[in-house]
Amino acid sequence: MYLKFQIKEAHIMKFGHFDDLNREYVIETPKTPYPWINYLGSEAFFGLISNTAGGYNFYKDARLRRITRYRYNNVPIDMGGRYFYINDNGTVWNPGWSPVKTELDAYECRHGMGYTIIKGKKNDLSAEVTFFVPNGYDGEVQQVVLKNEGSSAKTFKLFSFAEWCLWDAQDDCTNFQRNFSTGRVEVDGSVIYHKTEYRDRRNHYAFYSVNDEIDGYDTDRDSFIGLYNGFNNPEAVLAGKATDSFADGWSPIASHYKEITLAAGESKTLIFILGYVEMPVDQKFEADGKTINKVKAKAMIEKFDTPEKVAAGLADLKASWDKLLGILNVSTPDDKVDRMVNIWNQYQCMVTFNLSRSASYFESGIGRGMGFRDSNQDILGFVHQIPDRAKERIIDIASTQFPDGGCYHQYQPLTKKGNADIGGDFSDDPLWLILSVSAYIKETGDWSILDEMVPYDNDMSVAQTMLEHLKVSFYHIVNNLGPHGLPLAMRADWNDCINLSCYSDTPGESFQTYTNPKFKAEGGYSKVAESVMVATLFTYTGPNYVAILKHLGKDDEAAAAQAEIDKMKKNIMESAWDGDWFLRAYDANGEKMGSKECEEGQIFIEPQGFAIMSDVGKEQGADKKTLAAIDERLNTEFGLVLNNPAFTKYYIQYGEISTYPGGYKENAGIFTHNNAWIICAAAYAGEGDQAFKYYSEIAPAFTEETSDIHKTEPYVYGQMIGGKDAGSDIGRTGKNFGQGKNSWLTGTAAWNMVAISQYILGVQPDFDGLRIDPSIPSSWDGFTITRQYRGAEYKVTIKNPDHVCKGIKSVSVDGNAIEGNILPVFDGGVHNVEVVMG
Ligand code: BGC
Ligand code: NOJ
Repeated sequence: MYLKFQIKEAHIMKFGHFDDLNREYVIETPKTPYPWINYLGSEAFFGLISNTAGGYNFYKDARLRRITRYRYNNVPIDMGGRYFYINDNGTVWNPGWSPVKTELDAYECRHGMGYTIIKGKKNDLSAEVTFFVPNGYDGEVQQVVLKNEGSSAKTFKLFSFAEWCLWDAQDDCTNFQRNFSTGRVEVDGSVIYHKTEYRDRRNHYAFYSVNDEIDGYDTDRDSFIGLYNGFNNPEAVLAGKATDSFADGWSPIASHYKEITLAAGESKTLIFILGYVEMPVDQKFEADGKTINKVKAKAMIEKFDTPEKVAAGLADLKASWDKLLGILNVSTPDDKVDRMVNIWNQYQCMVTFNLSRSASYFESGIGRGMGFRDSNQDILGFVHQIPDRAKERIIDIASTQFPDGGCYHQYQPLTKKGNADIGGDFSDDPLWLILSVSAYIKETGDWSILDEMVPYDNDMSVAQTMLEHLKVSFYHIVNNLGPHGLPLAMRADWNDCINLSCYSDTPGESFQTYTNPKFKAEGGYSKVAESVMVATLFTYTGPNYVAILKHLGKDDEAAAAQAEIDKMKKNIMESAWDGDWFLRAYDANGEKMGSKECEEGQIFIEPQGFAIMSDVGKEQGADKKTLAAIDERLNTEFGLVLNNPAFTKYYIQYGEISTYPGGYKENAGIFTHNNAWIICAAAYAGEGDQAFKYYSEIAPAFTEETSDIHKTEPYVYGQMIGGKDAGSDIGRTGKNFGQGKNSWLTGTAAWNMVAISQYILGVQPDFDGLRIDPSIPSSWDGFTITRQYRGAEYKVTIKNPDHVCKGIKSVSVDGNAIEGNILPVFDGGVHNVEVVMG
């Protein structure tokens, strides 16, 4: 019995466990409530892999350079992957259970940092497959260890399987009239080459190899699987023999076939490599002008053709993660916090750096480019790990800005150019650039980023310094205010689904790009609709710009900017304070959105946290009132809903938001990204218990115990969790409440990293040094932090003898008391810091 569900109490349901020592999540059953995936690769070659080995590979761009095929939204779910089939005297099974789904005698999947190990056992034969993309390598290594664990010899057949995608993933799943006639392969010994379009316009091919002789192969899908069979019962596997098929059009695949005999106790290791090769145009072919030049592929295969080389590659990968994860390490009274901060949240931040919002089990890899706001926010989560790449990323993003401070909302990673289809005019975009640049300087102390010459709209002839980009960002808000002196909402702010200039009643219109002709004359969006969220984001991010100007000695400019922030605060209190919380917006009719006066959607989460963190109305107690209202109206056991009450009908003047049934997505779903803003705000306001409560409602390690309800991976954040109104649309309020969706690629990763590490645990990189200012659960006695920062290592012990949430009595560095709580910047070395709260 391998289904080791650990049902500790009626409502505790896990499907695996954390192995913190190895930094792995160990899945104990293939039948997780949704495919639980991992990412392989972090440079150019990537793989998505589920706990049953589903998923696919691509090189750099999941749309334009897709290597293997995957079928999204399929029945059954998770179809397409790298499958190993074993035919053991008629018993056919996969080490990862799927797609054959023969009940296994043992199963385990270990998702680690950049690698996955799947192990299955049937009838005394075990198969352990280790999947990873080695550092600096454009291929996925798959090491298969087969072991006869029985007491007599065994003879069985092994088949590998990968299905090639014809490179452009969008075209691959739509343009069949062409694609069914273009697929081409070459077979050379044990290596199968995918050379579709290589003869003409492509200078790249892929290959699938194994480091041993084979007894056959298949390269044509229909020959291997059979036209009326599926991945679960491929004809060749059932027949126990490959057909040596050769693809010519249709769907090329790569399958190796090998007959294996193992004595009792004997094991055999095979190393498969799925690789990608680019060739200079003049070296594409051998002398015959037809056969592909395999020199590079052969070198790649040789690099990992022994178990020793594989072990070394894996060790090297682990060492690079040791380094990345060694920068920030904490030890708190709660092991769930430790595993989030030290392992999984940081890991997820790196994945968002690599993939942005492109390829997950919810993002099909053919959709959006990289978001201006998304990518800037992602920086906050990984800048401490890879500051140089963060800098490069920030410059790439800023290069798509317009001279007036507006921004392309998205850009394409391959071209790095702004995406004209979507255009600009998202009201929040420019502000996130101020935040990411500030975060970079606070981490590194590298002020030179401000002097970088950065183009506008990728046109170097109109380049300006990064500082100038920050200025136009700041003033883009100031120059685009509405009737109440609040920022114009434009197409949308952070909430893509509040589209106050849309008024769409025609199916298929994009809420984000469509503008009612009514606003055409006004430049495409309403000059009345205003966003309170952008107002508070402005008062939150603005002070960073002021601090930068002051540091540069530009006191006049700093004072002028500060005056704008002060004015905005005044405007917010005059026109956007609803008595107990902040309004969400004014719509294009000048009506309040997110007010007690509204029938539905009376309170929204987004403006509140930034208002609290920038002390708007603090002297009138706005912060505490707002926090109380949030707790009363938005909080649930699974997190804070985005708005309340949920919209139960379509409000044309609000755009996409009320197209979602209540409880989902932006209509009163638990949008975990903005939960973090409240966690930060509660911590900022000294409410450490409240902050931690919200944190533990959504942090994956805490949701592990209700994995049956939560559904998605318990080791990473998802974008959304069903809110308390989920199901209300069908009269079953509570159905799907707590159910996660859209895991992995979300700004939640970065913001919750900020929330837990900077606001709750209080390790705050600042312009002048590392500030320590925890806001923790009062029950904690203290905790320790190790932090590498600007070349030095700080070993910080925090004691909480009085059991306060926030407040610092004393700080000593290397035995000497210091004033305040900003740790000095050192020239290297290890420094012991003791902080006493109280
Ligand atoms: C979703 C948003 C998302 C947007 C992206 C909307 O349909 O609800 O969460 O940001 O699409 O284009
Ligand atoms: C997801 C998008 O990627 C992000 O840009 C947006 O802020 C949120 N959805 C909220 O709509």
